[in-house]
Amino acid sequence: DWTASSIVGDQVSRIRAQVGDRRVICGLSGGVDSAVAAALVQRAVGDQLTCVFVDHGLLRKGEAEQVKHDFVDSTGADLVVADESDRFLTALAGVSDPEQKRKIIGREFIRAFEEEARALNDGQPIDFLVQGTLYPDVVESGGGDGAANIKSHHNVGGLPEDLQFSLVEPLRNLFKDEVRAVGLELGLPEDIVWRQPFPGPGLAIRIIGEVTRDRLDVLREADAIAREELGAAGLNRKIWQCPVVLLADVHSVGVQGDGRTYGSPIVLRPVTSEDAMTADWSRVPYDVLEKISTRITNTCPQINRVAIDVTSKPPATIEWE
Ligand code: XMP
Repeated sequence: DWTASSIVGDQVSRIRAQVGDRRVICGLSGGVDSAVAAALVQRAVGDQLTCVFVDHGLLRKGEAEQVKHDFVDSTGADLVVADESDRFLTALAGVSDPEQKRKIIGREFIRAFEEEARALNDGQPIDFLVQGTLYPDVVESGGGDGAANIKSHHNVGGLPEDLQFSLVEPLRNLFKDEVRAVGLELGLPEDIVWRQPFPGPGLAIRIIGEVTRDRLDVLREADAIAREELGAAGLNRKIWQCPVVLLADVHSVGVQGDGRTYGSPIVLRPVTSEDAMTADWSRVPYDVLEKISTRITNTCPQINRVAIDVTSKPPATIEWE
């Protein structure tokens, strides 16, 4: 039996015992887990914690601002922002292969984080790294020994010799619903606490084809519209997640305003799921789909078709890449 406030009290004293008066660093991704883990450590040791947010420029509309403003306002945490969108776009130039995109983003992410950590390490060295590892992650990886091994690219592993950290993992015994309750207890905004799963490589794996700034802008706009309408229809917690995918290299003929267009399609991929291992396509009401479709084609002149993906997982995956 647990309550959010008893978990907070318990973890705060554990963190204090582990960390003492030493310094801690935490990478924020925009997701729930890293935000809650950081907020817990902040509650426990205050300004001994420095959070680092590597903005890869692949987040959705408003998400970077959410980290920079809402997270900081609600926790009082010290945040260093590395605005690295140019670096990631340059590294991704000319790349269409999904696994290649993931590799590049993972590599650049670790490099950028390292650079920030090294700069911070200049004064009193940092001994601890916070990880938002959850209980299901621990079980999945066979118990886990606390070594900094990479699960997704947000987990910083394989750091160089001069950057060795001990791990602080305050969510290690918690399930997702407990993490959310703890986040609310700590005063994090609902938009952060109830954020749907979003892949580390971000919008880069939702542009089928090469990632460019213009394509990101179009997709970011279409995604924001879909999220807004699904939210307005009260479907946020019913739907597990809804990838919005830009088929950037596909062109079809349309008619918009005065003439023929040759634009790209956007695919909506709303799914229901328990754990992302399997998924079903969501039966989103037609009137909601209509609003999304109309708004996207009205707002984005590059888009002349909106399609919906009605495939379960398996055989399809949730993401298109
Ligand atoms: P798939 O597409 O494999 O996705 O059915 C299952 C879940 O994992 C997320 N996903 C990722 N998350 N890095 C991540 O951190 C990735 O490279 C990645 N690929 C997929 C996906 O959003 C879904 O929740």
